[in-house]
Amino acid sequence: MRVGLGTGSTVYYTILELAERSPEITCIGTSDKTEALARERGLTVVTPGEIGSLDVAIDGADEVDPSMNLVKGGGGALTREKIVAELADEFIVVVDRSKLVDRLGRFGLPFEVLEFGVEPVRRRLLALGAQDVTVREAPSDNGNPLLDADFFPIDDPAALGRSCHEIPGVIEHGIFNSAVVDRVCVAHDDGVQEMHPRGPGSH
Ligand code: A5P
Repeated sequence: MRVGLGTGSTVYYTILELAERSPEITCIGTSDKTEALARERGLTVVTPGEIGSLDVAIDGADEVDPSMNLVKGGGGALTREKIVAELADEFIVVVDRSKLVDRLGRFGLPFEVLEFGVEPVRRRLLALGAQDVTVREAPSDNGNPLLDADFFPIDDPAALGRSCHEIPGVIEHGIFNSAVVDRVCVAHDDGVQEMHPRGPGSH
């Protein structure tokens, strides 16, 4: 299988388990850290250009709302994560129950932006309704600045996502529409609950 590997502390364990059970899979990693872990565990890692499409991608999330829209990018890998999610026939999100929220935004909304556009983007986000916008100290693996905007509560994730994409200099934002999500696996103390945005077997 061709598998997209996400980034973060939850998917870390997924990668260990996958390497143990299915060492023959071919992977795309969504961050330098994930690529290094996958290689270290003996998995074959290629680029999107080499593989074309993916059977499945597995990734974590920072927030999941009741419609299964997501906020991602806490680890700064949002752009590669969105590319990989779109490439996959099935996109599976793995979280623990602390990630389930009524409305998105309390975590903050991550952005990857062009260095040249940091200040203009920051001002546009404030004009769009962000209460605060901060610039992270460390850039993304792509070498671009990362911003976090406070839009809590996000009433209409799809509309906000569209508005953010219209800002020149924004490379990507951390709202992942539920349309791209096929399954959310939620770890509870007593087992794993599976949720499907469009009903079971819907991808
Ligand atoms: C990485 O950029 C994020 O989108 C992660 O998927 C997210 O931060 C989840 O990470 P944890 O599993 O560590 O909470």
